[in-house]
Amino acid sequence: MISGGRPLQGTITISGAKNSAIALIPAALLAESEVVLDNLPLLSDVAVYAEILENLGASVSWHELENQMRIDPSSVRSIPMPNGPVKKLRASYYMMGALLGRFGEATIGLPGGCNFEPRPIDQHIKGFEALGATVTNEHGSIHLYAKELRGAKIYLDVASVGATINIMLAAARAKGHTIIENAAKEPEIIDVATLLNAMGASIKGAGTETIRIEGVSEMHGCRHSIIPDRIQAGTYMIAAAATRGDVLIDNVIPKHLEAVTAKLLEMGVHVDELDEGIRVLGKASYNHVDVKALTYPGFATDLQSPMTSLLTQAQGVSVLSDFVYSSRFKHVPELARMGAKIKVEGRSAIIEGGELNAAKVKAMDLRAGAALVIAGLTVGEGVTEVSGVEFIDRGYDHIVDNLRNLGANVWRETLETRTL
Ligand code: EPU
Repeated sequence: MISGGRPLQGTITISGAKNSAIALIPAALLAESEVVLDNLPLLSDVAVYAEILENLGASVSWHELENQMRIDPSSVRSIPMPNGPVKKLRASYYMMGALLGRFGEATIGLPGGCNFEPRPIDQHIKGFEALGATVTNEHGSIHLYAKELRGAKIYLDVASVGATINIMLAAARAKGHTIIENAAKEPEIIDVATLLNAMGASIKGAGTETIRIEGVSEMHGCRHSIIPDRIQAGTYMIAAAATRGDVLIDNVIPKHLEAVTAKLLEMGVHVDELDEGIRVLGKASYNHVDVKALTYPGFATDLQSPMTSLLTQAQGVSVLSDFVYSSRFKHVPELARMGAKIKVEGRSAIIEGGELNAAKVKAMDLRAGAALVIAGLTVGEGVTEVSGVEFIDRGYDHIVDNLRNLGANVWRETLETRTL
């Protein structure tokens, strides 16, 4: 529930990156001893992953107050997981690479998660097959088997984040040399390679389009601190601008947010880059801009929906196109309920600036949910009711507390308390 119209003001400290965390947790399975992950975000997706690892026999202790998880994978076995928690997460596909790398075998139910459009995993499969695995689809589960994984040269048809990480996981313990060409370059890929190298792997070139992996026969535990969540940080930057606020977004790597910073500056928002923080100072009126969501270092597709809400606050017509996902626009009909004037044409949303009004809206996926919260924060009269908040909890820890600390009037209501 959001009673908006107040500028966000103050400091927010960003937690560790979700899309790193949910790759680093399965990566720990490749070790023979304890892996400690620091700066872990408190998210429902992280809890689901902890459950998956425990089901496999890992000992997992999650110290929520210290943002730390300790994973001892020494007793893990490759138990088939056709159903259960793997179905709740898209990123459960990382179990394929991790278990294949460690045991040469895995059975994983096809992943769930945010299904804003069909999200194929053909490039992951192509990579596993190139490494020598046989991959079959058995009643909706992917079964992978390799007597021995061997290094290979793999060219990705699309620079997929998931496929790049999954192939790194499997190849880390394969025999010989693997080269991934047209690899994705997102910061989360560097984070995963950093962890794997600290565990004894030999991976070079992560963050560029060519990654070279020299397989090792054994990997060990280590301690690793997760990079800050650039998508969460970008969302709060956008929220600060949308509410004409003044917010210091702390514990970020400003370089990871250059594309957002550039677009906000173009709109006329005041943005100051500090060493580990970014200050966003909103203005009364904004220029319209065109935005193209691309792979990193382009404007992140995960910030495309939040950006749509901000662009409703600009003067004139903005065009926002997504070149990563062609139809990630489930937030648009919901924003239209709030009075937004948006037309979707192909892979673009054409947004005409104007005031929004409070309404009952529904989050259909994580980032669409964030977009609706930002829209609600801009509305001065009435209460915006966002349902489907379980999606938002997948990627934004303590979102209500964080927004309240910045002065927003936001609260949760459950159906039970509302009918009392
Ligand atoms: N693609 C294929 N075949 C594949 C894999 C991907 O055609 O085998 C296509 C996809 O359909 C898409 C494009 O390649 O058009 C990029 O997909 P990618 O594989 O990079 O996405 P992902 O790894 O499944 C991760 C994040 C997403 C984020 C994308 C793009 C995780 C768990 N998810 O997904 O995050 O949107 O990269 O940056 O890391 C989110 O956080 O809200 C979220 C959806």
